[in-house]
Amino acid sequence: MPAPKVFLKSTKNKFDIGVYLARSTEEVNAALNRFLPRASTKPSTIHTAMRYSLFAGGKRLRPVLCLAAAEACGGKREAAMPLACAVECIHTYSLIHDDLPAMDDDDFRRGKPTNHKVYGEGIAVLAGDALLTQAFEILAQAKGWPHYDHRALVLELTKASGSLQLIAGQVADLEGEGKKTSVQQLRYIHERKTSALLCCSARLGGMSANCTPLQLQALTDFGYNVGLAFQVIDDILDITQTTEQLGKTAGKDVTAQKATYPSIVGLDRSRKIAKDLTKKAFDALKPFGAAASALTALGDYLLNRDK
Ligand code: IPE
Ligand code: IPE
Ligand code: MG
Ligand code: MG
Ligand code: MG
Repeated sequence: MPAPKVFLKSTKNKFDIGVYLARSTEEVNAALNRFLPRASTKPSTIHTAMRYSLFAGGKRLRPVLCLAAAEACGGKREAAMPLACAVECIHTYSLIHDDLPAMDDDDFRRGKPTNHKVYGEGIAVLAGDALLTQAFEILAQAKGWPHYDHRALVLELTKASGSLQLIAGQVADLEGEGKKTSVQQLRYIHERKTSALLCCSARLGGMSANCTPLQLQALTDFGYNVGLAFQVIDDILDITQTTEQLGKTAGKDVTAQKATYPSIVGLDRSRKIAKDLTKKAFDALKPFGAAASALTALGDYLLNRDK
């Protein structure tokens, strides 16, 4: 299926990822706004805090990945939207907790003071908890998909965000602070703390489109590799960008003695690794042909992003 014409620059026949991201972000924000209780709903402190981080201006890469994966499989964005929103709720919860003094102790996120800086640690913990739970409420309310029932989707999301994946990565990330870490150990951390949820986003998009097992495998390979590249770039940007550009405090990985690719193999080699991973991700998209133009453009954008 060719990509929708509206996203193609008529002159160069090139996919316009800027337009695609802007439109998708707008749609995701509108859907999240519908799914979440209003800020004024009692207890309003928690709903205000949840919305504060959720609408602080994240890049929305995981939900966009989910929508693009659905399109690559010939599906509709509307069918993928609840899943895209569920993933973004989990991601935002993980950031609120990641920023807590007990974890990375960060003061800025998405260009604003972190959740605990504004609402205090207790409410920040609860806002994270509530967003995690919200993800499953959204998922449960979504209409079913013929080939993948709610059970399959819940399993997908719990596996990616549970103690064997995202949480395992966060545990290893914390335990790796100040320690000598091998490239293999770092790969373990990145696979879990970051790649698992990006991979899950792509897979859920495919599932919402009733994808074939072959398509699901292709999306898995794409999401896994693009997810790894994403964290390598995150590590690089921590060193090369300013706090203003990132919207989060730059240079924190060095201060906290985090295990990162630049700290282990240097900046140049890290860039090469991110590039090679993206190439692998692109290879996985071959079965989709032109239908994967959004996914390809997204992979390219993730590699070359500056924030
Ligand atoms: C930051 O993710 C956390 C990592 C896994 C590196 P993003 O860079 O996608 O953060 P937002 O959503 O745009 O704020
Ligand atoms: C965060 O990784 C991963 C999760 C929140 C699961 P980082 O700690 O590297 O993310 P940033 O740099 O704070 O965004
Ligand atoms: Mg962290
Ligand atoms: Mg952090
Ligand atoms: Mg980081």
